[in-house]
Amino acid sequence: MAALLLNQVPKLQRIDVAGIRTKTLPRSRLGGGEVTARERVAAAGDEGVGSGSHARYGARFAAGCLGPRRTAAAALTVLLACTAPLAVAVTPALIPAPAHLEVQGEGLTLRDGLEIRVGAGREVAAIGRYLAALIRASRGIALALRSGAVAPGAGAIDLRLDADAPAGEESYRLEIAPAGARVTAHDPHGLFYGAMTLWQLASSAPRQGTELALPGLRIEDAPRFRWRGLMLDSARHFQSPEFVMRYIDWMALHKLNVLSWHLTDDQGWRLEIRKYPRLTSVGAWRVPAGRAAQRDIDPATGRPRLYGGFYTQAQVRRIVAHARARYVTIVPEIDLPAHATAALVAYPTLAAQPAELPRAVPADWGTYPHLLNIDEATFRFVEDVLDEVMALFPGPYLHVGGDEAVTGQWQASPAVRARMQELGIPDAGGVQGYFERRLGDYLSAHGRRLAGWDEIVAAGLGANATVLSWRGVRGAIVAAQAGHDTVLAPDPLMYLDHRQGASPAEPPGRGAVISTADLYHFEVLPGELAALSQHVLGVQANLWTEHVRTEERAAYMTWPRAAALAEVAWSPQASRDWDSFLARLPAEFDRYRTLGIHYSADVFAPLRHVAPFERHMSQDLRTCTDKVVLNLEDDAPRVGARAVFLIDIENPCWILPAADLTQARALTVAVGQVPFNYQIGRDRDAIRFDAPHTAAGELEVRADGCDGAPLAVLPLAPAADNDAVTVLPRVALPRLAGSHELCLRFAQPGLDPLWAIDWLQLSP
Ligand code: ACM
Repeated sequence: MAALLLNQVPKLQRIDVAGIRTKTLPRSRLGGGEVTARERVAAAGDEGVGSGSHARYGARFAAGCLGPRRTAAAALTVLLACTAPLAVAVTPALIPAPAHLEVQGEGLTLRDGLEIRVGAGREVAAIGRYLAALIRASRGIALALRSGAVAPGAGAIDLRLDADAPAGEESYRLEIAPAGARVTAHDPHGLFYGAMTLWQLASSAPRQGTELALPGLRIEDAPRFRWRGLMLDSARHFQSPEFVMRYIDWMALHKLNVLSWHLTDDQGWRLEIRKYPRLTSVGAWRVPAGRAAQRDIDPATGRPRLYGGFYTQAQVRRIVAHARARYVTIVPEIDLPAHATAALVAYPTLAAQPAELPRAVPADWGTYPHLLNIDEATFRFVEDVLDEVMALFPGPYLHVGGDEAVTGQWQASPAVRARMQELGIPDAGGVQGYFERRLGDYLSAHGRRLAGWDEIVAAGLGANATVLSWRGVRGAIVAAQAGHDTVLAPDPLMYLDHRQGASPAEPPGRGAVISTADLYHFEVLPGELAALSQHVLGVQANLWTEHVRTEERAAYMTWPRAAALAEVAWSPQASRDWDSFLARLPAEFDRYRTLGIHYSADVFAPLRHVAPFERHMSQDLRTCTDKVVLNLEDDAPRVGARAVFLIDIENPCWILPAADLTQARALTVAVGQVPFNYQIGRDRDAIRFDAPHTAAGELEVRADGCDGAPLAVLPLAPAADNDAVTVLPRVALPRLAGSHELCLRFAQPGLDPLWAIDWLQLSP
């Protein structure tokens, strides 16, 4: 039998030699006094190295200790070190960590032909089949699936429901010894998770020739929370049905069990509704924002190419069946009464202010003013839609959005005001309450439960409404105090559209960094919520996709942060241990590579240091303000790699903290232009630019502050007609003694397009 070699993972160390600046959230948004992710990561490394307290992390990790390196060839001042071999590891690299695990000497040798014996029932057989398929796909071992009892000592994998198994829902027991492995559970859901744990062990089991050595152990496992969710936004960008099914597979491997599926929003309606075909024939298609998209003419129509797509009901049925087989409940979200512009464009009579609607599905991000009206005909429409949604999705919850309804259009509409008077609704604030209560009653009458974002709390909902708290955890507290179930999904920690590292190699997303460590340290039941825990169903991370254009990036933004989420949601609070999680990640990354899951290895990336005369990407600069910072993808070229600019869209202005102007003689800057496609209400009026001196505008560079006379001016004319990145002609810099902060800001004629810095480089 092979020695137990699981969890051969590196001990990690980060040493910040040069005081690298990394962008982190303002502390206020993370909670007062909380340390930043980088500090925590650094602390985790510092504690572990040489302390002798982490011997269980064991032997040297092969292949240079690191996952993929994605930083540029900058001089790296941080060392990511592997310790010398210490001891044979004993903790299997399982994620999420099981509730109870005892390692018990020798385990089972897996080889071709070894049996998986499944107990009675179709579901049990299906679980056995899936386990065999996963082991075959990931390790090349072909197990033989048989039904019926297993002979004692047969050396088989025994998979069955058992009254003696741990009693809680989704719980399971897994025992592995030389005589065989046994997975038992009370319910198929628990049995499935036992099988997934067994697969994780097989996926990282050391190979000896054609055999795999599973460790001897005993696990008794049960979830901490019953809502362990991910939200996938398929409205802003569309993912194929195949991708959605793979996403569900990946969730299930992590014991995540709720997919909140955001199917409709201002920029797209993605669900076929038979009674209202225009929802998808019109509402599922848009022209992307900006000049590059306007120039991209579809030869079939002679008009700008449309972006979009939708799920047919047949596809949804397949996805729902697939989710059921992976023990994932889909909570479909039909976002109403705001975030519904695509539906309103398709059926304008539903709108509070039809005259203010755009003529086509819009491509701006942000918060639109458009709202549904409260006519009876509109409720009939909504109920018809919900009928079809209920027929497709068998789960208990239907999510009806409810977020960010700005009441202006209700106030301004004479028809809505007249209806309010008839209904005795005193003010526009009460309209949403009326709306949510009607929908909640309708769903209750059909045996379903309304779920919505935390704005619905104020609406005076029926008791069985479930509230997803996104504006911090306050909504969860208020909801739980009012007797509602609640799920914690707060921005920013649970918003996977934030970039997960500060490296220029990170794909587009919101600018603030939410790292895997940030997510891992999320406390689900802080202070006031601890006393209300009976109402806290669990936790959910949300992948909004305004800036997530491709499926690869949707996966990348999700993993490994959702692995951290899985541990937060599944494992006992007392066993939460970042060091241990970090040590289990390399094995997890091996699984991702095996399964073809795109993921971020930023957690192991060296901190980046850029030498004075190397290229500084926008991500290496500081934004002058942190109003709305985005890591924004260029809108061109149509095909191929696009630049990504870190930019505060409400104040495009960048700081290079230290430029040696004794040495630097010239400056080269590469710039891009992006559409200003943001619905930000009045904030738009507050965006100011310096007056340009030429038609196209200029980039102005100042020293030691952003006011005063420019040190250098770079005319934008050479870039004016290029939708992609242009390297502007190099400009000379005046000689100034010493090191200076440089401020770079555009003088431009208007807001759209928005100019952005891609990179700058000083020359000696
Ligand atoms: C939300 O982010 N508007 C739920």
